[in-house]
Amino acid sequence: MRKSYGEGEMRLVAVDGVSLTVTAGEFVALMGASGCGKSTLLHVVAGLLDGAEGGVEVFGQEMVGRSERDRTALRLKDVGVVFQDHLLVPELTAVENVELPLVMAGVVRGEARAQAVQMLERVGLEGLQDRVPDRMSGGQRQRVGIARAMVGGRRVLLADEPTGNLDTDSSRAVVELVRQLCADGVAALVVTHDPRVAGAADRVLHMEDGRFVPEPSTWGQW
Ligand SMILES: Nc1ncnc2c1ncn2[C@@H]1O[C@H](COP(=O)(O)OP(=O)(O)OP(=O)(O)O)[C@@H](O)[C@H]1O
Ligand SMILES: [Mg+2]
Repeated sequence: MRKSYGEGEMRLVAVDGVSLTVTAGEFVALMGASGCGKSTLLHVVAGLLDGAEGGVEVFGQEMVGRSERDRTALRLKDVGVVFQDHLLVPELTAVENVELPLVMAGVVRGEARAQAVQMLERVGLEGLQDRVPDRMSGGQRQRVGIARAMVGGRRVLLADEPTGNLDTDSSRAVVELVRQLCADGVAALVVTHDPRVAGAADRVLHMEDGRFVPEPSTWGQW
């Protein structure tokens, strides 16, 4: 898969011919220096960025080259996306935030609420369902964000530095949650700068200048 930004002399190839498969149940970490193309790769896989060359299949469904509407539908059904900032709606409680994608997808209220409550239990926040984000810790907010991403039986988790704003204990809780989701069959691709997060993954991919490299290079080799 390849993805460039801009045209002509301004063209910048951000992801330069990478190929990867993440299987169900697998936790894959993606590492690499700032600007190497990690977020671009994640956004293309999530269907949030258009105009990539090559293919991206999500459970046999092609994501690249589809209309925005198709990509959104595919994402809503199968793919949960999490960013460094949890992006919760501040006015809504935890459970209201988690049920939001289900309500948007047309699931009836009672059913959406039941699934959201269950999902909050799964991420270990059963007591906090009626709290607004402002009254939760950063780690709790991020777990609500993951619950919202994965509610409704989504099978792919794409996370861009999900522990970037978190302290050690909260980071560990988020990583344990990802591992638990993978144990239940979720395929997870997690961008991280934190070697401790990568250390918990089944597989670590290193990216440099838009490509995968076997080992990260060090300044010492030069
Ligand atoms: N919207 C955009 N328009 C033009 N260039 C972009 C755009 N987004 C990213 N780039 C460029 O593409 C390259 C890859 O960026 P990307 O955000 O994927 O890097 P990253 O590995 O996620 O970095 P970081 O670790 O800092 O988040 C960089 O050179 C960046 O400047
Ligand atoms: Mg990034």
